[in-house]
Amino acid sequence: LSSYPSYINLLPSIQTCNITNLPENYFLKYYLYHALTWPQLSFVAVVRPKNGYKKTGYGLNGTGPGDDYPKVVGYVLAKMEEEPTDGMAHGHITSLSVMRTHRRLGIAERLMRMSQRAMAEAHRAHYVSLHVRVSNQAALHLYRDTLGFEVEKVESKYYADGEDAYAMRMDLTPMW
Ligand code: ACO
Repeated sequence: LSSYPSYINLLPSIQTCNITNLPENYFLKYYLYHALTWPQLSFVAVVRPKNGYKKTGYGLNGTGPGDDYPKVVGYVLAKMEEEPTDGMAHGHITSLSVMRTHRRLGIAERLMRMSQRAMAEAHRAHYVSLHVRVSNQAALHLYRDTLGFEVEKVESKYYADGEDAYAMRMDLTPMW
């Protein structure tokens, strides 16, 4: 698991991981904006080739073929809310996903805990918020049961396909 600046050359691989796992996708510049504006808050989980990197190829820019680069198997993309309506500094999880091959290993929990800690320590965030599909049992289990988020409200037809979202949040002040 690593954070900025080591993940910055992996942004295209993070985007690939997102496209593979979720229908909510973003332009590459939005990942870059997160990395440059809130460098402490996003994290990646990578696997490295067993026999080291090949000498030829595209190098470590995350876009090369085969096993020339560390493969992103999970990420959390996070930010601080720029204009909090309640006036309280708080973090927001823009996106979280883990590749199917690497699920149920505790990766998402670790990524989330690292991001939450950084929000509290680097930005004195009062709480962290996120949206999740009401049908997403795996993510709901992670957020509510494992991490301790609470449902703040249901946002009707939040997603492009018409599904509702739970708006969830978790208090971070105990981490201050
Ligand atoms: N069903 C029930 N519980 C589950 C499931 C599941 N399918 N998957 C994980 N959990 C539980 C685990 O058992 C664990 O609970 P425990 O603390 O009681 O042991 C807890 O959730 C954390 O498990 P992790 O191993 O850390 O989770 P994982 O690395 O597998 O990632 C994730 C979970 C991110 C939801 C993954 O399934 C995924 O990528 N899904 C597709 C993308 C997605 O839905 N992302 C979240 C969208 S919301 C947002 O981005 C803000």
